[in-house]
Amino acid sequence: MKAIKNNVSLKPYNTFGIDVAAQLFVEVNSIEELIEALRNIDFKNELLILGGGSNILFTKDYNGLVIKNNLKGIKLIKETESEVWIQAASGEIWHDLVLYCVSKNYGGIENLSLIPGTVGAAPIQNIGAYGAELKDVFDSLEALNLNDLKVRDFNADQCRFGYRDSVFKQGAKGQYFISNVTIRLQKFPIINTSYGAIHTVLNQRGIIHPTIADVSAAVCEIRNSKLPNPVVIGNAGSFFKNPEITQNQYLELKRTYHDMPGYTTEHGVKVPAGWLIESCGWKGKRIGETGSHKDQALVLVNYGHATGEEIKNLSIEIQKSVKDKFGISIQTEVNII
Ligand code: FAD
Ligand code: EPU
Repeated sequence: MKAIKNNVSLKPYNTFGIDVAAQLFVEVNSIEELIEALRNIDFKNELLILGGGSNILFTKDYNGLVIKNNLKGIKLIKETESEVWIQAASGEIWHDLVLYCVSKNYGGIENLSLIPGTVGAAPIQNIGAYGAELKDVFDSLEALNLNDLKVRDFNADQCRFGYRDSVFKQGAKGQYFISNVTIRLQKFPIINTSYGAIHTVLNQRGIIHPTIADVSAAVCEIRNSKLPNPVVIGNAGSFFKNPEITQNQYLELKRTYHDMPGYTTEHGVKVPAGWLIESCGWKGKRIGETGSHKDQALVLVNYGHATGEEIKNLSIEIQKSVKDKFGISIQTEVNII
């Protein structure tokens, strides 16, 4: 029987470094251990699955059971002449999976290098960066239903992936423990340098015919130069999602704000939230122990002793000022608990 501990500090388990306590806490290495832990506690309502804690803001002590996911293992489950299907247990570190695939020259997730967190959390918000998203390579996942303790499969359609979104953030929120994820990769990789900065770094390095290892290294360089390292300064990456507005709204705003960037999408125009927040004067601004980062306005930080409540309050102030100035609502990406 896996030991369920009482009153455990979650500070080491979230990248914001917020010091709250979990009433109950258990680390699980297998689905069997998880089922055993769930059968041995009285209440199942207050459950939180924790991966790397890199997309969570704790605002108070957690009055329930926190399940820290340590399921490990990466295996090739199927291959053809041109493709491989790799299944990874959900507690694997996402970037370790990327490095494994790059080392085998299996192409498809190199643009997603260095995203913090675990494999199991990757489908939750359909992680994305530098011109790629998990959904581009996603095959299927297995998940344990936390109510009836039965395992079921989800294919890509059933996951209903969107921009930083999936069924696990909507109708199925909090109902499943994702135990493994299968991705479909290319043995003859198609290099994706559509994101301008990757092209620039490869050029600087004099690389004309990049391999996926080159792309991965370029992405790591860009990320290290742009995003604060949570080990040095607490953060959870982009705090908000980039909002999508209509073409008409964008053109109207452009009349006043000539330099407002925007990227045309299927549904309208995506405006960088970082630009909106910077334009409201928040970039680099410090309020007590929290603030908006000096190099990336979209990243809210903990200078050391911030409470989750302080960071949440700052995020509300930022949302208000963006709404007042531009009439645009920006939604949080980070899961606020
Ligand atoms: P956690 O924070 O532990 O959990 C996130 C949510 O998923 C919670 O609701 C949790 O309950 C749930 N969850 C976790 N594991 C499971 C599971 N096995 N089953 C069911 N539910 C589960 N994200 C991007 O998309 N692109 C980026 O470029 C990016 N850059 C980042 C940069 C930095 C510096 C940081 C700190 C974060 C960044 N993020 C980015 C956000 C974060 O890395 C991702 O959201 C990541 O997938 C979170 O993984 P995690 O294991 O830490 O999840
Ligand atoms: N910008 C500003 N000021 C800022 C920051 C950004 O004006 O302080 C503007 C610039 O115009 C810049 C544009 O925003 O060109 C885009 O900035 P960046 O390339 O840094 O990307 P982002 O839109 O801020 C998104 C993701 C990141 C992902 C990068 C790279 C979201 C919410 N964020 O950031 O994901 O790594 O693109 O693809 O979509 C995360 O989700 O946690 C995350 C870090």
